[in-house]
Amino acid sequence: MTTLLHISDLHFGRILTDVLEGLGRSIRTLTPEMIIISGDLTQRATSKEYQQAADFLNSLKTPYFIVPGNHDLSTFRIVERFFWPWRNWKKWIQSDLESQFSAENYQLIGINTARKAGFYMDWSRGRISPSQIQHVTQQISHAPQDQLQLLVAHHPFWLPPQYEARHLIGGRDHALASFKGSGLDVILSGHVHLDYCHVMNGMIISHAGTTTSDRLLPDTPNSFNLIQGDKHSLTIARHHWHQGEFQLSQSQAFHRKNGQWYET
Ligand SMILES: [Fe+2]
Ligand SMILES: [Fe+2]
Repeated sequence: MTTLLHISDLHFGRILTDVLEGLGRSIRTLTPEMIIISGDLTQRATSKEYQQAADFLNSLKTPYFIVPGNHDLSTFRIVERFFWPWRNWKKWIQSDLESQFSAENYQLIGINTARKAGFYMDWSRGRISPSQIQHVTQQISHAPQDQLQLLVAHHPFWLPPQYEARHLIGGRDHALASFKGSGLDVILSGHVHLDYCHVMNGMIISHAGTTTSDRLLPDTPNSFNLIQGDKHSLTIARHHWHQGEFQLSQSQAFHRKNGQWYET
């Protein structure tokens, strides 16, 4: 059985130190085989924040898999944003913006959905391009049938109705139509700082909230998700920060039948 820890939106620069230390304790207790980080590693993409983030990543004893978010691009240093948008990411984190990892039981496909600009006012919005959609479906088509397929992208493919004003990822409809029946099992995201799990088009859409920052929505604590299972059944255990520790908040079970996922 595969055990993956999904954390997101750490936002170095706005870190809650006690929560970061609590995350370390949870990692040691839960012993995941992989930590998945779905973007917004920093708050303002400064060298100082990236250095702090890199120190944290280097301290992990567990392998990690990471994609960038919109906050990992500079907001106010416009020249940097347009000419060297990922310079700090590549200097401090890794050369890749779109990681890929394949183990015996699962595959992680990472895509970069943050954009330095677009034909809209809010450049925090994300997008998946036709070539990224094709990349995802091609990777899955070459994978063993029994291998769990997970897409990791910062921006959300589904939102609860009350949060839709925060914008779904651009290109979503084309992406979901292409992913339907492709063998993609789970889409992991962050960005909205809200944790939830939801089945859509036969796929599990699961978001972690901000795991370690003070950028909290009202009545929404810091959170992470523990994902356990295989290509046939999965449990996603949502953990919330409560009374000085991350504690299990809700566990949702899913099973796969005829190529579709259902909540049990
Ligand atoms: Fe964020
Ligand atoms: Fe974000």
